[in-house]
Amino acid sequence: MKNLPPVIAIDGPTASGKGTVASLVAEKLGFHYLDSGALYRLVALASQNASVDPQNGPELGILAKKLAISFKNGQILLNSEDVTEAIRKENIGLRASVIALHPEVREALMSVQHSFRVAPGLVADGRDMASVIFPEAVLKVFLTATAEARAERRYKQLIAKGISAKLENLLHDLQERDARDSSRGAAPLLVADGAKVLETSELSIDQAVKTVLDWYQSKAA
Ligand code: C5P
Repeated sequence: MKNLPPVIAIDGPTASGKGTVASLVAEKLGFHYLDSGALYRLVALASQNASVDPQNGPELGILAKKLAISFKNGQILLNSEDVTEAIRKENIGLRASVIALHPEVREALMSVQHSFRVAPGLVADGRDMASVIFPEAVLKVFLTATAEARAERRYKQLIAKGISAKLENLLHDLQERDARDSSRGAAPLLVADGAKVLETSELSIDQAVKTVLDWYQSKAA
């Protein structure tokens, strides 16, 4: 483990801003970035396209192992098709949180997540980065915000993209997703041992990024 590149693990609930913060921290440090949620979303999309029952763990596990996934210049490809936008839809996020309940799916995605750990280092975001995938991460951060603040951020993002949305529906959906992610048996969303909690309801993105960088510098020193 000693010679492996360092990992910063950033976990947190849906729409907590962890993706934005994690990718900016990676950029500042010149590290690689893993958006593990995108992998669950890819399995969700592929299973929908192939009409696989979201309750069928074994079949979903087989599907997840066979997926040809690639991340290229900000684009996400599934079997050579650009699905960058398609996996961001709310219904795919909800389906992802259902298929993510199955240990077979989590197991199938393990090696692809580990393969992102390449020099000079990795910033990985998700739900179980610190607890299951990279338990030896140098820095573990649990990034969160109130459900209301998160629903409002998601609402603004969608409106800015010209996608119509209702704040109360978004709030309801993300509370449903939080409940499922936190209460599941396999790799539930939790504050891992040794993780630092970063409450971002009142913080700007820059402040959150700076806090994580400061924590990392003091760990690395
Ligand atoms: O982070 P994002 O909202 O894109 O993730 C979609 C869903 O994938 C989450 O609601 C969660 O159920 C699942 N997920 C997970 N473990 C991860 C990342 C995401 O179970 N490491």
